Amino acid sequence: MRAIVVTDEAAGPAGMTLADRPEPEAAGNDVVVQVHASGFTPGELTWPGTWTDRLGRDRTPSIPGHEVAGVVSALGYGTRGLSVGQRVFGLTDWTRDGTLAEYVAVEARNLAPLPGDVDFTVGASLPISGLTAWQGLFVHGRFDVGQSVLVHGAAGGVGSMVTQLAREAGAYVIGTGRTADREAALDFGAQEFVDLGGSELEEIGGVDLVFDMIGGDIQKRSAALVRAGGTLVSIAGPPEARPADGVAVDFVVEADRAQLGELVQRVRDGRLRTNIANVASLDDAVAALNPTTRVKGKTIIQVRP
Ligand SMILES: NC(=O)c1ccc[n+]([C@@H]2O[C@H](COP(=O)([O-])OP(=O)(O)OC[C@H]3O[C@@H](n4cnc5c(N)ncnc54)[C@H](OP(=O)(O)O)[C@@H]3O)[C@@H](O)[C@H]2O)c1
Repeated sequence: MRAIVVTDEAAGPAGMTLADRPEPEAAGNDVVVQVHASGFTPGELTWPGTWTDRLGRDRTPSIPGHEVAGVVSALGYGTRGLSVGQRVFGLTDWTRDGTLAEYVAVEARNLAPLPGDVDFTVGASLPISGLTAWQGLFVHGRFDVGQSVLVHGAAGGVGSMVTQLAREAGAYVIGTGRTADREAALDFGAQEFVDLGGSELEEIGGVDLVFDMIGGDIQKRSAALVRAGGTLVSIAGPPEARPADGVAVDFVVEADRAQLGELVQRVRDGRLRTNIANVASLDDAVAALNPTTRVKGKTIIQVRP
């Protein structure tokens, strides 16, 4: 099969090449998915799972991309709950070959049914940003109705999902980003916008929850804004700062079939908009994933036209 592979961590996305790889087989409880669309997060090339298996053994050349939408083409021994020919989407294991390929083997429990009226490109754009937003707000962030939420990078992949889900759940949302992100962040539902390059973050006063994917100095200053009993949720690694009288948590997104179902239902009934900036073919994937100008939103690779 054709796949994008990486062999050198230091090379980053520039080291991607289109190559021939053997088709994966379905192990116990796996399905093989014929990939129609794939999503990729640049950060994953710095994560150990891209380069080694669970025992830390080198597994290069590896296939990146861990968001998938496609059709089940084979079932492993003991696999239940999905059938051959079914449309599915989900988040694949970080320590196995990923979805920038014509086929991927994935544990069935990491997938959810993709309704027939949702495009494969939309399905592939949801798992990482949607699940990260959901888990950060409702699982780790202990969000409650009426709370104020500071969403960094509110026009980006994760931030646009956090903004929409938090608004729907009854939050007051303050989005942040670069000057050019203001309109998009407000359009996704933020009630206020802070230009991190200009305005003073401290001017917003206190908030109940900070959702951070930037880290560093921005995170330190944001931690100081968390009200008593509030939470700083970081997806940029272990928090470098803690609220004086609150909780700081970091997490790595996990696959969850029920949460994928919640997300796709919201897309179907118009409560949630995906943030797809660019769709490219597998032939054009290396160029699309190495953009020369800023891309606002997700790049989805349409593996099967
Ligand atoms: N822990 C987890 O489970 C998990 C899950 C998903 C994602 N992540 C990580 O979270 C991060 C965000 O992912 P994403 O898909 O949302 O990326 P994205 O689509 O690039 O969104 C990030 C947004 O934040 C903006 N931003 C970043 N640094 C900024 C700064 N200093 N000032 C102002 N704006 C800034 C970006 O602008 P520019 O594009 O101009 O920089 C972009 O609009 C990535 O590092 C990713 O690896 C972690």
